Amino acid sequence: MFVLMYLPLTWMTTALVIYLYEVFHENLLINNRVIKAEKMEMVSHLAASVSHEVRNPLTVVRGFLQMIEEEGTSEAKRREFMKLSVQEIDRANAILENYLTFARPSPEHMQVIHIEEQIHKTLQILTPLAHMNTVEIHTNITDCCIEGNEDNFQQCLINIKKNCIEAMPNSGKLSIETRKEDSEVTLIITDNGNGMTKEQLSRLGEPYYTTKGREGTGLGMMAAFKIIETMHGKLTVTSVPQEGTSFYIQLPVVEAG
Ligand SMILES: Nc1ncnc2c1ncn2[C@@H]1O[C@H](COP(=O)(O)OP(=O)(O)O)[C@@H](O)[C@H]1O
Ligand SMILES: [Mg+2]
Repeated sequence: MFVLMYLPLTWMTTALVIYLYEVFHENLLINNRVIKAEKMEMVSHLAASVSHEVRNPLTVVRGFLQMIEEEGTSEAKRREFMKLSVQEIDRANAILENYLTFARPSPEHMQVIHIEEQIHKTLQILTPLAHMNTVEIHTNITDCCIEGNEDNFQQCLINIKKNCIEAMPNSGKLSIETRKEDSEVTLIITDNGNGMTKEQLSRLGEPYYTTKGREGTGLGMMAAFKIIETMHGKLTVTSVPQEGTSFYIQLPVVEAG
């Protein structure tokens, strides 16, 4: 008798716990979305802090240059300081580029661009990084024309593909595919890397959100979302932890110019 009563009770408790967890989880996601919207609004004000962001690497580089100049510095140390200086300059450059795209995406410089050419150009830039991580690149692309700013679109593709490669530090596969349907093309970029949890995914595109510590700026995806929006497109992302991530870029197709 006790067992007969006890069993439904444990089921009910389990169901209740699952239900409460779902509600809590949903609330967390909604909360994250609200925070994201608020932060997006704030970003124009944040642009003012760009000088501060860039000043840090500049100060570091200045210090290194002074040490390089000093007589007592060994050749090995000099080389190390030079390498670190280049890294810091690259960092400052990445911060600036992503900020500028966000602060003033340039719809006035819209042009008709071939999607295949843009994909290949950006892949060329990223090939050394892909080799370093032993990442194989697979493409299945049918060309078509889209409208946008060439530099911005390249930056968007680089930001996304670089993230994919960085998510596969010990080998993996990066695949790039296009699917054309009537007046729309979807560019699908997929990796089989670390992936993201639901919470991480909901924060994607939030200014300064990074899991890479000092190596990251947390501005790459923010710029990517903004660029696709300026091109009247849509960027959606799906991800499974330890399985990988897919980026879907939907864009209107235009006639060749
Ligand atoms: N393809 C991906 N796989 C796994 N995580 C990703 C991927 N793309 C982006 N992310 C996550 O989103 C964060 C923000 O990306 P981003 O805005 O480019 O900044 P950063 O790369 O400088 O950290 C990353 O730190 C990472 O945690
Ligand atoms: Mg990035």
